Formats: sequence, structure tokens, C-alpha cells
Amino acid sequence: MDDLSPEILEKLLKAAREVQQRAHAPYSKFLVGAALLTDKGRIITGCNVENASYGLTVCAERVALGRAVAEDAGKPVACLVVGPTAEPLTPCGACRQSLLEFNPSMRVICVGRDGRRIDTTAGELLPHSFGADELEKPRE
Ligand code: THU
Repeated sequence: MDDLSPEILEKLLKAAREVQQRAHAPYSKFLVGAALLTDKGRIITGCNVENASYGLTVCAERVALGRAVAEDAGKPVACLVVGPTAEPLTPCGACRQSLLEFNPSMRVICVGRDGRRIDTTAGELLPHSFGADELEKPRE
């Protein structure tokens, strides 16, 4: 999925930056936004949602994936992530696993505050991963 137009990328960036402002992050004050593009052409966004019981926090990427499933929005083909830092924010381990679940070829575009980018895929972000195929393999 290298063929995203500059217009689509711009739309994803705008959507991610908008939803980032709505993050519920009173503890870390680290606001994150994610915008998925699906094979139906839908853009589905998510922001991080923290909790006073810290471990219940859900990252922006997983909020977006959950919304895409609930809305029957189609298969995610790209995910653009924005964080509050100058450096691009790359998804945490749990989010890498969650992105992979839906599409290992999903393009993942991480954009820093100054526009710097890391452009990769879900599969590249989590090599030697565990997935549905493993559950199909012969067992003892
Ligand atoms: N966070 C995300 O939303 N996505 C990531 O991939 C990394 C971390 C959030 C979780 C928490 O609310 C805050 O950033 C600090 O870890």
C-alpha cells in the first residue's frame, strides 16, 4: 500500500491531529491521535483514553481499530499516528500486535510534530510475530 495520494495522506493527518486534541490523557498529558484508512475508503479515528487505574489505559491505535470493527468500516489499509513529540511516535508493542491482527501489510505512517515521518508497515514493526496462523499449526 505505497500508493496513498498526498491528498489522502493530508486527510489522515488532519483527522489524526483533530482527534489527538480529544485524547483523555489527564495523567500522562501525552496526547496521541490515530487515523485509519480502510479498504472501503473510510477514515476512522481514535485517541488515547487513560484511566485512574493506569493499566486500563487504551492507546489511540487500538481505540481506532475497535471503532473500525464496530462500524464495519472495512479492512484497515493504513494507519497514521501523531504524538506530542518532535520525533515521530511509533506504536507501542500492544498496538503493533493489534494492528497486525487486521492486516500485516497495513501501512503505518508515524508523523512527528515537525512533520518528520517514519513510513513502515505493521509487519515490519513486529517481526517474528505470533498470529492466527500459529493457532492452526499441529500441536502435541
Ligand atoms: N500511547 C498511545 O496512545 N499509543 C502508543 O502507541 C503509545 C502510547 C498513549 C498511552 C498513554 O495514554 C500515553 O500515550 C503515554 O504512554
